[in-house]
Amino acid sequence: MIITIDGPAAAGKGTLAGVLAKTYHLAYFDTGMVYRAVGLDMYLNNDSPENENKAEEYALNLTFSKMNQLAQNPDFRSAIGGKYASIVSAHPKVRAALLKMQQNFALNPTFADGTPAQGAIYDGRDTGTVVCPNADIKFFITASTEVRAMRRFKEFEAKGIETDFQTVLNDMKARDERDASRATAPMKPAVDAIIFDTSTLSIDEVLAFALKIIDKKIKNS
Ligand code: DC
Repeated sequence: MIITIDGPAAAGKGTLAGVLAKTYHLAYFDTGMVYRAVGLDMYLNNDSPENENKAEEYALNLTFSKMNQLAQNPDFRSAIGGKYASIVSAHPKVRAALLKMQQNFALNPTFADGTPAQGAIYDGRDTGTVVCPNADIKFFITASTEVRAMRRFKEFEAKGIETDFQTVLNDMKARDERDASRATAPMKPAVDAIIFDTSTLSIDEVLAFALKIIDKKIKNS
């Protein structure tokens, strides 16, 4: 079974994906990691993320082990890491170079320790529209920009990262705009996606709905 969860940053995709992966014993692919890895690699090597051909070279050389290694760097999840990821992800050549790596995971899904799984949960921006258009179930999780910026601000605070709410909100707006307006694979719900707004629903309510939908699908398959 393949389940996709798309939506903007800090909407609750990761939380939902984590619980569903555990509940149904599915492998988990956080696809934002491929763009974060390319972006961070460029940042660490003082290359401009605006340079599409250079970014493509990094993307073509990306492997799961390199991605997991880069994920250990504190800047992988920092504001600068998010900004670089968002810029490189807007390049069509980068998206094309990283597509097979993401799609192949669905053919042989594996858990973090390398053992095979019966299926996978994907989370990202285009996993239901481009990466896995034939997924069994597609969710799109969203929330207002202010709610998502407040969540991200609190995450930074908890990690001891110095910032202020307005900066986080401005960054969030800029990233949403880049993710939704790019020409290739813009962030949008698949036509057959089930949409949840977590500014009006708690994550527990979303989880309860999602479990119902998945259980029904399993029963009918
Ligand atoms: O989910 P995230 O914040 O880790 O994603 C980082 C960036 O990667 C985000 O700004 C958009 C991009 N991204 C994408 O374009 N397509 C995906 N499937 C996942 C992430």
